Amino acid sequence: MTDKSIQYDRIRHMVSESGLSHIAFIMDGNGRWATGRGLPREAGHKSGAENFKKVVRMCGDVGIDTVTVYAFSTENWKRPLAEVNAIMRLLDSFVRDAERENEENKIRFVFLGDKSALAPELSRKCTDLENLTANNRRLLNIALNYGGRAELVQAFDKLIAAGKTSATEEDISGAIYTAHCGDPDLIVRTAGEYRLSNFLLWQSAYSEFFFTDTLWPDYSADDLEAAVKSFAGRRRRYGAVL
Ligand code: IPE
Ligand code: IPE
Ligand code: MG
Repeated sequence: MTDKSIQYDRIRHMVSESGLSHIAFIMDGNGRWATGRGLPREAGHKSGAENFKKVVRMCGDVGIDTVTVYAFSTENWKRPLAEVNAIMRLLDSFVRDAERENEENKIRFVFLGDKSALAPELSRKCTDLENLTANNRRLLNIALNYGGRAELVQAFDKLIAAGKTSATEEDISGAIYTAHCGDPDLIVRTAGEYRLSNFLLWQSAYSEFFFTDTLWPDYSADDLEAAVKSFAGRRRRYGAVL
């Protein structure tokens, strides 16, 4: 056995013992990764996009069935146009590759967020990928033009349009972008920031959190192991006495 497979076995064991089935990543630090190397921020996004694929594969290999990533927020439009365009191009090529690699990877893709603000071509490709992969078992949610507050607003609008004059928690959970899956067990944020930045506001009510200084393009199996190990040592009480 290689060191890598021994490590993966170790992580897999902790994943199954702790019941970790849904992990979410706030993939932060691409810009700092690049500027620290004297490179343009776009180079950090490219490296981050490559690492994103590796981390998703890694999560599958250690038995985590659902991964959610924060790729682009409703606030990220405030960035310089050239940077936004570079991120959109990377997303476009990610979606194209994902379609081509479907037979091999067997992942179900769901985009969380408002697609209508994306370029029509990208928006269509995202919907096509969702349809193509709808029957795959493992799930990857990509939060794209996503904001937790915007998500709740569209959920309330949807409920009102359906004739509701009051709502239950179940109604809201059923009207948000993640209606097809459970809440994240663990939310990891990279790059040393300690905030949600408008990510999964409703869904994170009882999520565990893990913060690391590692910049997203550097996120590795060692980082995943540290997060899973920490999660495995938590006691989730959900308000009760345990
Ligand atoms: C995360 O990296 C990627 C996106 C928000 C799209 P950043 O680009 O925020 O990297 P930093 O925080 O500037 O280092
Ligand atoms: C959050 O990171 C959004 C994504 C990772 C896509 P930001 O870099 O946009 O967050 P702030 O601005 O530091 O809060
Ligand atoms: Mg950032």
